[in-house]
Amino acid sequence: MSQTTVESHYTRGDLESALFQALEAAGLDPAHLHPDDLAPVDEFHIRGAEATREMIHLAGFSAEDHVLDVGSGIGGPSRQLARQCGCRVTGLDLTSEYCALARTLAERVGLAKRVEYRQGDAQAMPFEDNAFDGVWTQHMSMNVADKDSLYGEIRRVLRPGGRLAMYEIVAGRGGTVHFPVPWARSPEISHLTTAENLEVDLRARGLEVRYWNDATSPAAAFFSAMLDRVRENGPPPLGLHILLGPDMREMAANMLRNLEEDRIRVVQVVMEG
Ligand SMILES: C[S@@+](CC[C@H](N)C(=O)[O-])C[C@H]1O[C@@H](n2cnc3c(N)ncnc32)[C@H](O)[C@@H]1O
Repeated sequence: MSQTTVESHYTRGDLESALFQALEAAGLDPAHLHPDDLAPVDEFHIRGAEATREMIHLAGFSAEDHVLDVGSGIGGPSRQLARQCGCRVTGLDLTSEYCALARTLAERVGLAKRVEYRQGDAQAMPFEDNAFDGVWTQHMSMNVADKDSLYGEIRRVLRPGGRLAMYEIVAGRGGTVHFPVPWARSPEISHLTTAENLEVDLRARGLEVRYWNDATSPAAAFFSAMLDRVRENGPPPLGLHILLGPDMREMAANMLRNLEEDRIRVVQVVMEG
């Protein structure tokens, strides 16, 4: 399916103003933001900032590294990486609206010197061979049909001996996914691979496993707690519904079902080579 369709799934059109209004409704001043203020919205993956912190610890990037974040969204993970590791991060994302907002937010929190964002397709990356010491990606590959191109591009831009950190949703054994989910409202733009195929395909490109963990159970606990909170209090002023719209609640309920019925799983992966 075309990249335009994936981009239109994520594009809202008025995201920057919607986010700044929501920040004000949450009692924050959009002109004086701390990076952590944005975490309920800019960490667009299961378990949010906590999952990013875990992956940063597992990946072990250093201040000298230049890391590529593939599918960087509105940039929460890249900014957290830059802050915690002291490294330089380039984010690549298909969705123009996300790239523009990621740049604005980096400026607002004083990180524009260490993070930059490029619009582009992970299946044909606009970078030189061996350009990065590390590649980082979270919850992106589910939208990519051509896994061969994606893994080939990751290998090509990662220098020999570099490290790949991945936090991904993969297919389980329970059958087809209940839609809508946060990455797709219908099956056309959803392309899940299994954990087994992911490992085989990355090893075939010379990457060796340094860490592999199934993180499905904490993912289910995350959605269960989110749904309980929304049932009791309604949606919070700041949350992923600002990115995804009013069907976020239905998406969260489907995510819980998909995880409980083994239709999807979640993996944390670090590979090197
Ligand atoms: C669920 S969001 C995750 C964003 C970010 N990784 C995070 O965790 O906050 C998925 C992101 O992948 C991007 N994406 C999907 N397909 C892509 C592709 N072929 N190339 C680059 N980015 C892509 C989308 O635009 C979206 O920003």
